Amino acid sequence: MTLKGSTAHWGSVAKLFHWTIVLLILAQGVIGLIMVELPKKPNIIPIYTFHKSLGLTVLLLAILRLIWRLFDVRPAEPATMSHAQVMAARVGHALLYVLLFAVPLSGWLFDSASSLRPLYWWGIVQMPSLTGGPDDQLKEIGHETHEWLFWLLILVAAGHATAALVHHFYHRDDVLRRMLPGRRTASGPTP
Ligand code: HEM
Ligand code: HEM
Repeated sequence: MTLKGSTAHWGSVAKLFHWTIVLLILAQGVIGLIMVELPKKPNIIPIYTFHKSLGLTVLLLAILRLIWRLFDVRPAEPATMSHAQVMAARVGHALLYVLLFAVPLSGWLFDSASSLRPLYWWGIVQMPSLTGGPDDQLKEIGHETHEWLFWLLILVAAGHATAALVHHFYHRDDVLRRMLPGRRTASGPTP
């Protein structure tokens, strides 16, 4: 197991960040979509609290992931990819990073502008308000952007996952394999 990546494969830390965040985004999407449909009674508050803490965890993981990326070595795109394909992949990845920040931040903005209860991360760390108090206009903006940016994230991630599958099954290169857990490059294990 290699913590850092190389020019041929992603390191374990980058893989762990990638797949943990994928799972948490999916869980958050399911929880979010279900919780907004529940009858507005006090017993739904713990679900909202859980969604907020898990969402702030995604934000923290996204920050740590980007910091790690600064020091990590990343594999190069396959030489068979055209300049346009490489650019499309890079723009797509950059957009995914932006959305990994924007979705939880918009939820936090909505929560702050609603100012219903103090926001605690897992009941321990009190998070600052982004608005300094109730604000109806920012509440509306936070609410709308949280929902729409989530769907944009799902759309871009679906295109991204499709591209990974096309690499694997059509181009038959290493792009997907080198992001999967374990060392699975076609060239076999490296020392
Ligand atoms: C990556 C992290 C997150 C994802 C993927 C996510 C996803 C979602 C989704 C899909 C909904 C349902 C939207 C709708 O149909 O109206 C939702 C609602 C909500 N989210 Fe998040 N969320 C995340 C992080 C957060 C954070 C960090 C907070 C607050 C600190 C938050 C607060 C809320 C609230 C309060 C609602 C309910 C909105 C309403 O009452 O209509 N979310 N979230
Ligand atoms: C919420 C879902 C997802 C998000 C937010 C996401 C995000 C990202 C980001 C930001 C990168 C770029 C990493 C970097 O340059 O530092 C990346 C790489 C990658 N992702 Fe995802 N991803 C998601 C789902 C998936 C799925 C479902 C698959 C597979 C079917 C996948 C396969 C890959 C692969 C193979 C790479 C490496 C690409 C390369 O080596 O150039 N991702 N992902």
